[in-house]
Amino acid sequence: PPPQKKNVTQPFGPCEGCRKIIDKAVQRYSQTWKKQEDNYQNFRSNLSSECHGLDNAIITQTNTPVGSRIVFNGIRKTLKVTPKLFSIFAKESPFSNKTWDTCAVVGSGGILTNSSCGNAIDSAQFVIRCNLPPVDNGYEKHVGVKTDLVTANPSIFTQNYGALIGQRRPFVERLRTYGNSLLLLPAFSYTLDTPVSLRVFSTIKDFHSPIRPVFLNPEYFRSLLLFWRSQGLYRGQLSTGISMVSLALELCNNVDLYGFWPFSTHPYSLHNLTSHYYDNRQPKFIVHAMPTEFELLLQLHSQGVLRLHLGDCQ
Ligand code: CTP
Repeated sequence: PPPQKKNVTQPFGPCEGCRKIIDKAVQRYSQTWKKQEDNYQNFRSNLSSECHGLDNAIITQTNTPVGSRIVFNGIRKTLKVTPKLFSIFAKESPFSNKTWDTCAVVGSGGILTNSSCGNAIDSAQFVIRCNLPPVDNGYEKHVGVKTDLVTANPSIFTQNYGALIGQRRPFVERLRTYGNSLLLLPAFSYTLDTPVSLRVFSTIKDFHSPIRPVFLNPEYFRSLLLFWRSQGLYRGQLSTGISMVSLALELCNNVDLYGFWPFSTHPYSLHNLTSHYYDNRQPKFIVHAMPTEFELLLQLHSQGVLRLHLGDCQ
């Protein structure tokens, strides 16, 4: 019989050099982690001076006055801020002059399945989640429920909620699980995303949903991209995950990451993983250089700047 293929850990998409990244991850993760205060302070101060996340991550009435122009990504189209648009911007940044001691950033990787990390995640003072992931229906034990900020890629509204043109209640019901967290909408990243994001905003207001919608500032996103290019991320758009890690590194003294593992088998038990803890839809490997992003996060883990969690929590 032909030799049995070994169960090799793979990324979810094409990836040169991933084997090396995975081996490095397993090796580095086996070493005791300790926060390196100097490395953390240096990294945070570089990030803050390049990107100013505390004041600039979110579009506010202070950083985006009436008459100014919002510049979209890519084709560089602009949108003039009218008094009507201005009126729906946050009055001030929810992060100005604020820091938290502990933050958890929750990626959506299948590595969270059966991880029992729910309590560890919920124990953080500020919890960030990506792309409206489920935190109910039995996932609580493994991913927790606490949510202080949740992002929403506009494609979710189109794919799952009919772009909010017809029935809006199922969407509002879904939002309930996030309580009064911030809902971060990249409404002005690409022109196509603006109308549906504005419909999300008005749906939330019409239904008096407690969630607090805010708009991602595309200028902040571009500064993050430049920052990560300077750190060695030479291709791809930034993923939501690494963008939220960047924000957390400015917001929080201690940053813990869960659910970041863009590979298709578990690092230790080597069992097959789904791409997300809640489905097996392919992550956007062509758009984002996720393995390289992971490698950069692993580097920060080794430098004691943040802490990655790859194993189970109990
Ligand atoms: N992620 C990961 N490993 C996985 C799946 C996701 O590290 N197996 C991280 C990535 O940083 C990703 C984040 O979790 O950005 C959220 O996942 P997902 O919702 O799948 O993001 P995408 O839709 O792939 O992409 P986008 O970043 O554009 O929102």
